[in-house]
Amino acid sequence: MGAFLELVGVRAGYGGGDILQGLDLSVEEGSLTCIVGPNGAGKSTVLRVVSGLLRPTAGTVQFRGESLAGRSPRAILGRGIVQVPQERSLFPTMTVWENVRLGAFTVHDRSLVAKRMAAVCETFPIVAERRHEPAASLSGGQQKIVEFARALMLDPSLLILDEPSMGLDPKTRSLVFNTVRDMNKAGRTLLLVEQNARSGLGIATHGVVMETGRVRLQGPGQEVLDNPEIGRLYLGATA
Ligand SMILES: Nc1ncnc2c1ncn2[C@@H]1O[C@H](COP(=O)(O)OP(=O)(O)OP(=O)(O)O)[C@@H](O)[C@H]1O
Ligand SMILES: [Mg+2]
Repeated sequence: MGAFLELVGVRAGYGGGDILQGLDLSVEEGSLTCIVGPNGAGKSTVLRVVSGLLRPTAGTVQFRGESLAGRSPRAILGRGIVQVPQERSLFPTMTVWENVRLGAFTVHDRSLVAKRMAAVCETFPIVAERRHEPAASLSGGQQKIVEFARALMLDPSLLILDEPSMGLDPKTRSLVFNTVRDMNKAGRTLLLVEQNARSGLGIATHGVVMETGRVRLQGPGQEVLDNPEIGRLYLGATA
């Protein structure tokens, strides 16, 4: 049996040569796996391969023992892999409630939708508190939380978050990191990409350092965080 999610020897790019150059990555069920690495290392590209938006030119991607090769993004969503993208993605003029409700667009059982809506409101009280307000009226951090809520409407087996702390002030950032950690503590399997390496690895059960399309180092989050070479190369003083 392989890992929950397993990429082996993956090569992928955008037509101008491979960005991912033989990438191996495992995500265990129940883990909070955090990928860090410099801008352009290929972190978002890995996520695009996993969610089916980009086809690898070589290598294999397996989820729960099944190949994801050739599957459409819609089919991969159906397998329970849900991604919150790097950029803001709420519909700004729609209400918070409408945005969250849209997360369950593939669920046709109305009582199940209502049940998940209730669960999501319990996890993220802001969804109920601000339900009638347009998404654009929320702060950046609040919008990120609502994006998490929307993703949870599909009760994902694997929740993927691409740089959720991007562009947030330090206080809001720690709220977002605590929220991510709490989702994992509640049993959710998460794959997180973070530019903010210290905070990301600090909450991760498993850390992965990427460099130019390859995994440079991986291990328990704290071990990667404590690795002196990695500290010097990637974490810097500002991370
Ligand atoms: N749609 C695209 N078309 C062409 N090149 C792309 C495209 N998306 C990304 N790239 C290139 O692929 C490389 C890796 O990009 P990727 O977005 O995966 O990096 P990243 O590690 O997520 O960086 P960041 O931390 O800035 O988000 C970069 O050189 C980028 O310019
Ligand atoms: Mg990126």
